Amino acid sequence: MAKTNHLTPNTNHLTPTTSHLPPSSSAQLFDRACRVIPGGVNSPVRAFNSVGGEPLYVVSGKGARVRTVEGVELTDFCGSWGPLLFGHARKEIVKAIQLAASEGTSFGINTPREVEFAEGLCELVPSMEMVRLVSSGTEAVMTALRLARGFTGRRKILKFDGCYHGHTDSMLVAAGSGLLTGGISSSAGVLPSVAAEVFVSPYNDLEAVNRLVRGQGSDLAAIIVEPVAGNMGLIPPAAGFLAGLREAASRCGALLIMDEVITGFRLGPTTYGMQCGVTPDLTTLGKIIGGGMPLAAVGGRAEIMRKLAPLGPVYQAGTLSGNPLAVAAGLAMLELVRAEKPYPRLEALGRRLTEGLNAAAHEAGLTFHCAGLGGLFTAFFVGEAPTDLATVKRCNTQAYADFFRKMLERGFYLPPSQFEVAFVSAAHNDDDVDRFIAAARETLAGMG
Ligand SMILES: Cc1ncc(COP(=O)(O)O)c(C=O)c1O
Repeated sequence: MAKTNHLTPNTNHLTPTTSHLPPSSSAQLFDRACRVIPGGVNSPVRAFNSVGGEPLYVVSGKGARVRTVEGVELTDFCGSWGPLLFGHARKEIVKAIQLAASEGTSFGINTPREVEFAEGLCELVPSMEMVRLVSSGTEAVMTALRLARGFTGRRKILKFDGCYHGHTDSMLVAAGSGLLTGGISSSAGVLPSVAAEVFVSPYNDLEAVNRLVRGQGSDLAAIIVEPVAGNMGLIPPAAGFLAGLREAASRCGALLIMDEVITGFRLGPTTYGMQCGVTPDLTTLGKIIGGGMPLAAVGGRAEIMRKLAPLGPVYQAGTLSGNPLAVAAGLAMLELVRAEKPYPRLEALGRRLTEGLNAAAHEAGLTFHCAGLGGLFTAFFVGEAPTDLATVKRCNTQAYADFFRKMLERGFYLPPSQFEVAFVSAAHNDDDVDRFIAAARETLAGMG
């Protein structure tokens, strides 16, 4: 996509935005941004590097749609990369934020809502006996790793190839997501001594984990895993993989950390670990729990959580941790989850979409596999369901880029990378999914 101006403005249900800024196109804004923001973006995948063209600028969103600065309305299947379980600008969440903001945006003093929110999380996720609120998934993971090391007195961490756990130094070893997209398996600026403390194993390969645990288990502080991998595209865990990790961690005295920043409250009204009956020692949450506000959490067994300052020797702090606006949004989100029970509907919409896409690709004679789980999906341009990073790397990323751009021209916004999950929200309906499938059928037929 050269420029975004081939997208035609359409009539829409979004309220026009009043802005005091002069009207600009996405291309103009990107030019300005590139002068003052590295790469023009505040998070690398937003740059469209792997799909080509210039990134979009949006001014508003409502339900399943966003509106670009050009006035083009897009049906959004990226959903801010996961937080928007109920779509954009869900009124209960907006109202909760407005009310909280009118009472003060930050105090650095405890507030009643953070207690209520922490109680709510612990009730919905019984493996979390205690929880500490932070502002991003990265921070939650960083805290979980420090806690695991502080609790066990050990140094090493085992992570999985292609899993992404935020940008804390030690997790930028064979990471997924934006790093995969950029074709780099690690980051400059990460000390070799930090990387040396991290073992990397193929996802879904329990034998490799057991081998490592046999040899190095006594040095292992934690095994950290995305219980459903979402940062190399969607890869569900193989049968027995998560239970096997639980056993391996327990056998060697390491902690099992489930990073549920994507999966927490995405596939059910709790974590994926709880849903499959595998209890981790620590869990990290982010994205959905803040309803689009910067809110994340680390929680787990009380015995471990009590090691955190001020009770214990593991330091962790944050000026804006448990921020009143973020917690108000989180409480509204948990309330919606309890009241609306959106998961069967998300599952049905996700299945309809995945099956429709696979059928359309089959008709077009393409090498394609759309993976789906609940409302998560990835359109992989590869012949069979990927099971790990090695199989994901066989995908035709050019074909994905082509698909992405043509779907954008037809009014659908997907994650701008092959190595990401797409999200169906409770704000999508059958009509959105059917229109998406019809557009995909045309697109894929043209690619066959
Ligand atoms: C599984 C997982 N963990 C951690 C993170 C980091 O979260 P944040 O971007 O809020 O720092 C992400 C971000 O996508 C993630 O997908």
